[in-house]
Amino acid sequence: MLCFLQASSSFEVNDTSGKACIIADLTVAFSVEYKSNGQKEFAHFFLPQNATVEPQSSCGKGNTSHPVLVLGFGAGHSLSLNFSEYADKYQVEELVFHYNLSDATFFHNSTAGEVKRVSHKTIIRAYMGTKYRCINSKHVNMKNVNITFSNVTLEAYLTNGTFSMNKTECAEDMVSTTAVVPTTPKQTTSQVPTTSPAPTASPPNPAVGKYNVTGPNGTCVLAYMGLQLNISYLKKDEKMGLDLLNFRPHNTTSSGTCSNTSAFLNLTFEKTRVIFHFALNASTEKFFLQGVNVSTTLPSEAKVPNFEASNNSMSELRATVGNSYKCSAEENLQVTDKALVNVFNVQIQVFKIDGDKFGAVEECQLDENNMLIPIIVGAALAGLVLIVLIAYLIGRKRSHAGYQTI
Ligand SMILES: *[C@@H]1O[C@H](CO)[C@@H](O)[C@H](O)[C@H]1NC(C)=O
Ligand SMILES: *[C@@H]1O[C@H](CO)[C@@H](O)[C@H](O)[C@H]1NC(C)=O
Ligand SMILES: *[C@@H]1O[C@H](CO)[C@@H](O)[C@H](O)[C@H]1NC(C)=O
Ligand SMILES: *[C@@H]1O[C@H](CO)[C@@H](O)[C@H](O)[C@H]1NC(C)=O
Ligand SMILES: *[C@@H]1O[C@H](CO)[C@@H](O)[C@H](O)[C@H]1NC(C)=O
Repeated sequence: MLCFLQASSSFEVNDTSGKACIIADLTVAFSVEYKSNGQKEFAHFFLPQNATVEPQSSCGKGNTSHPVLVLGFGAGHSLSLNFSEYADKYQVEELVFHYNLSDATFFHNSTAGEVKRVSHKTIIRAYMGTKYRCINSKHVNMKNVNITFSNVTLEAYLTNGTFSMNKTECAEDMVSTTAVVPTTPKQTTSQVPTTSPAPTASPPNPAVGKYNVTGPNGTCVLAYMGLQLNISYLKKDEKMGLDLLNFRPHNTTSSGTCSNTSAFLNLTFEKTRVIFHFALNASTEKFFLQGVNVSTTLPSEAKVPNFEASNNSMSELRATVGNSYKCSAEENLQVTDKALVNVFNVQIQVFKIDGDKFGAVEECQLDENNMLIPIIVGAALAGLVLIVLIAYLIGRKRSHAGYQTI
């Protein structure tokens, strides 16, 4: 979940009389895969708060054109929400994202430089005369692009220029979650299904565990991280359930093996096991997480009790050999469409670890983006201090001068 990192921004489209016909209050996170020197790279960024409502936005005209909200940002990027109505509902009929690969602030060393377009059909639907509300994250996967919406309040076809009182809540907010989150260290089992059917609050973040693997030449994997699994599964009543499980470091055993180009870190917590497979890209001298295998036992309400998922074509947690990868923001590693591995406060180094200590830090993009906010606040504060100081000095000089003339 990226939502807590960024405040939502509000955007409005007005008709000729200046009355709002679309209002959207939302947080949008983008993750874009692109090629750089023949290698897969990922750019992560948010819809900035200073994104602008572009002139192509419109309230639509009867049957001839539909309402559309176009948000522009950076060097030629834009996100369009094209609305349509059908019977008693309205919807985002098409979501279109244009991104400019020439923009080096998001796409470092991109091989291609053109503006790309991706789109997705119908993502958001609500009853006419209600605002659409979705606090939970909603992921939209398109070719090379993942867009995550969160904290969304949005309404189109507005008649009186403001949000309606009634709301249509999204399915994500209503899903019956079986939060399986062990919190007390004395619990002997992690399988404590809470019965609350309402949208449950986010579970606490998992505690950070410290794990290492020793190979023939000493420590070859050093990893600090909080680990959480998020498994979607089919229940006996054919509904979807969610199994959220935090690894408790004290009760987690680690093992693993390393070769010159490949390293495995196996973490076992009760009936759940996660295997991380790291690989070396010899040509770029970088290590990265290439694969994850997850196996667990699901709560008793699951149709199939045993769950397993694996993916060996990932490319995450990447850093130069000899350095460490660090990310304070939560990262959601997608193993399959049913299994997410969420890592928290991760710092990791693989293959070459001098003196069993982390080397130079390579910070993740999410953290770098988040650093901007405190920097801006800090700069503003420093400016304020300076102004007060100058005002004080001028004041002192004046009163001084005053005394001398008397
Ligand atoms: C390693 O990097 C090279 C050059 O960037 C790339 O062509 C290759 O696909 C990468 N190998 C792996 C296993 O990712
Ligand atoms: C794409 O980005 C480049 C570099 O910032 C810029 O020169 C160009 O005008 C942008 N293209 C569009 C369509 O905005
Ligand atoms: C768990 O996964 C579901 C489905 O992919 C997603 O909607 C939800 O936001 C995730 N929750 C967390 C805490 O990662
Ligand atoms: C692994 O690396 C060591 C030291 O660089 C080298 O001596 C050894 O031959 C390598 N092993 C393999 C299987 O490549
Ligand atoms: C494996 O992960 C990659 C990268 O996250 C993703 O594109 C791919 O769809 C995943 N494979 C499966 C089977 O989910």
